[in-house]
Amino acid sequence: MIQTLPVPFRLRPPRPEDTAGAYAVCLKTGDFGRDGEPFYRDDPEALGRVFVGPYLAYEPELARILEDEEGVCGYVLAARDSRSFYARYEVEWRPELCRRFPAPTGDPAGWNRIQQIHHVYHHPDYFCPEPYDQYPSHVHIDLLPRAQGRGLGRAMMAEVLGLLRQVGSPGAHLGVSLPNVSAQGFYRKLGFQSLIQVGEGADGCLYLGYRLSGSVGSAGSPAQPGLSISP
Ligand SMILES: CC(C)(COP(=O)(O)OP(=O)(O)OC[C@H]1O[C@@H](n2cnc3c(N)ncnc32)[C@H](O)[C@@H]1OP(=O)(O)O)[C@@H](O)C(=O)NCCC(=O)NCCS
Repeated sequence: MIQTLPVPFRLRPPRPEDTAGAYAVCLKTGDFGRDGEPFYRDDPEALGRVFVGPYLAYEPELARILEDEEGVCGYVLAARDSRSFYARYEVEWRPELCRRFPAPTGDPAGWNRIQQIHHVYHHPDYFCPEPYDQYPSHVHIDLLPRAQGRGLGRAMMAEVLGLLRQVGSPGAHLGVSLPNVSAQGFYRKLGFQSLIQVGEGADGCLYLGYRLSGSVGSAGSPAQPGLSISP
């Protein structure tokens, strides 16, 4: 169910050689949706190891890579059952991160972004919003600036939610940092509904949900998902 996109963009399943490009997209959107490169110069893959790598490794059938003639310029990633995904991450992925990257010490208020994400390696946040049985899947989407604002994010989200529906998921959630108000506008436009806010300010995260099945009228259950590709 590959979406048809405007030339020169193409959405396709991931290949092993996409990993570096996908990590780079994560970096270049890693400052609350903006370019994170200045903050991660000493460890440019720090974010990708958490937010990209495990998804490509464990659920590649739910991942899609966006590319143009310059290369990888976006991705959408998903986990069918978030708790199962995190359980596997905990056992198979996180030990290697902890082995390679020591936990930062000292006053957390003085930590830089790299130290903050290395702290996450050692103290993961596996929070899933309730009701879990209605939103067990979760999704990540990022596009480089050259791909943004062209309807591609909408098409990619339609693709991944369609894939999740095919594998029987009743719904998906995602977390968006509070400062990333632009992404929040995008998700709401697509029909995602607020589930819960955790934390405040730059550390805060808003969880939104999208129902793929179930009774119409429950939270986040549009009768018809507003996720067709618009002209
Ligand atoms: C957020 C992001 C995924 C959106 O993808 P996109 O391709 O730029 O968005 P689209 O062009 O597909 O927009 C889809 C719809 O959302 C609307 N929209 C986009 N941003 C919006 C905003 N800030 N407020 C309200 N609506 C918005 C568009 O107007 C469009 O509506 P339409 O189809 O009715 O015309 C993309 O811009 C991105 O990757 N940003 C940087 C990384 C990021 O923030 N990722 C999310 C982390 S949680």
